[in-house]
Amino acid sequence: MRHLLDTTDLSVSEIDDIIALADDIIENKKAYSKICEGKQLATLFFEPSTRTRLSFESAMLSLGGSVLGFSEANTSSASKGETVEDTVRVVSGYADIIAMRHPVEGAPKVASSASLVPVINAGDGGHSHPTQTMTDLLTIHREKGRLSNLTIGLCGDLKFGRTVHSLVKAMCRYPDISFVLISPKELSVPDYIKTDYLEANGIPYFETEKMEDVMPQLDILYMTRVQRERFFSEDEYLKHKDAFILDNSKLKNAKSDLTVMHPLPRVNEIAKEVDSDSRARYFEQARNGKFIRMALIITLLRWAGELD
Ligand code: CP
Repeated sequence: MRHLLDTTDLSVSEIDDIIALADDIIENKKAYSKICEGKQLATLFFEPSTRTRLSFESAMLSLGGSVLGFSEANTSSASKGETVEDTVRVVSGYADIIAMRHPVEGAPKVASSASLVPVINAGDGGHSHPTQTMTDLLTIHREKGRLSNLTIGLCGDLKFGRTVHSLVKAMCRYPDISFVLISPKELSVPDYIKTDYLEANGIPYFETEKMEDVMPQLDILYMTRVQRERFFSEDEYLKHKDAFILDNSKLKNAKSDLTVMHPLPRVNEIAKEVDSDSRARYFEQARNGKFIRMALIITLLRWAGELD
């Protein structure tokens, strides 16, 4: 039984195949509209979500399947003390595939050990968010026509940002990638990301606290939210919450073909005026999330022998 807990569960050629399948779904939506007839997706969300949960549900419905699940822990028996293992063991008897978000890092791995069906990690604490990363890779590929030879700026909360950690791990596997890490020192990328992924793969990177200085170098600017829910104190959050705000003036020195991305939700780290700049691609990125999740559902069900 194959699960998707991290993008490192996928080989590069599998990632490329899933992106190609998502591209085909975008071009030929009708051809996929009945492929999951009779199949059920369970969405177990122990933490809030708009894009991930609804795009998973929309994906399964657009494949002809159906969905069940819960969107907050307090409407499930987790509120009575049921363990993740027991919840998933039971739900895997009701559904053919499970997408799960949980605030505890590693919870989807625990779930996968108890599940009778494939489990997809829809975000676990500050650890990983592989379906967001697959969304990001599809978006970069559609915007740039490649996943190689790119300078990628990551900006904001790089310490707790699971989307950033997942994206670094994935992009390290493609040739000629370099990173510019833009954050306050207190929110810099964890050491294990630098040693185990960037340095281990010989990926050039440098760290800065000044967004304006590096803007002309970037092919991709990946903005992130400073996440109130990950801080231990409100004071620490307030100190950093407005560390970086992208506005039109900061984009003046950027490349004309820069791609501005953000996993969303944003709070105020991208000014609304940027939305009308043709380089702003974060709403297209969110829309791509549905199509990559369609491709992932098909792929995991095929690997489980549930689809041809
Ligand atoms: N990008 C993302 O994971 O958004 P949600 O928290 O709304 O699912």
